[in-house]
Amino acid sequence: MKITFLGHASLLIEAGKSSILVDPFISGNEKASGIINIQDLNPDYILVTHAHQDHVLDVETIAESSDAVVVSNYEIAMYYESKGLKAHPMNHGGNWKFDFGNLKYVNAIHTSSFADGIYGGEPGGFVLSTENKHVYIAGDTALTMDMKIIPVTTSLDLAILPIGDNFTMGIDDAVLASKFVECDNILGYHYDTFGYIEIDHDLAVQKFNSEGKTLHLLEIGASLII
Ligand code: NI
Ligand code: MN
Repeated sequence: MKITFLGHASLLIEAGKSSILVDPFISGNEKASGIINIQDLNPDYILVTHAHQDHVLDVETIAESSDAVVVSNYEIAMYYESKGLKAHPMNHGGNWKFDFGNLKYVNAIHTSSFADGIYGGEPGGFVLSTENKHVYIAGDTALTMDMKIIPVTTSLDLAILPIGDNFTMGIDDAVLASKFVECDNILGYHYDTFGYIEIDHDLAVQKFNSEGKTLHLLEIGASLII
């Protein structure tokens, strides 16, 4: 599985023949400008953790051009279905087997409303299982005891955790989250995009290292293969 960081909380996951885009916020991200072009993205699926603008800005444009299926909570799926897009609704705790593998929509502590004020359901994250690998995509969330449920059923190969603080967990809580989900391999996201979430990269890497864990901080456009 190849995971490419598209900036902020946007990811492109390539698994087998499937291309899965997560939380596309690219055209509005100055840091991604000139590196990622949404016209080049042709996903089969778009996973949406919650309805905030910094996670959904490019969903409609990319879903229209690619014919991708939007996978999210019920409210977000219905929102996009009403706009004529293909959508697959899920809700917390639910699994579904897609052609690329299994997705489970899991709990997150955060909020979820569209930019126009429409209710975007309750926010979540995903556990993606494909090619015998298991990846936790936390979405925007606080540290929560619910994370401890994940390793009861799933031995993770990678945990993708927000680390930017202010709107989500910061570095210290993300280290605890990596313990809760029992994963030593972490990809950090949701940092540096705005002033509120700028972090010290060296300090972040060092804090995970001191707990025997690896924190990957990818340049925009760079990939991790697991
Ligand atoms: Ni958010
Ligand atoms: Mn966010």
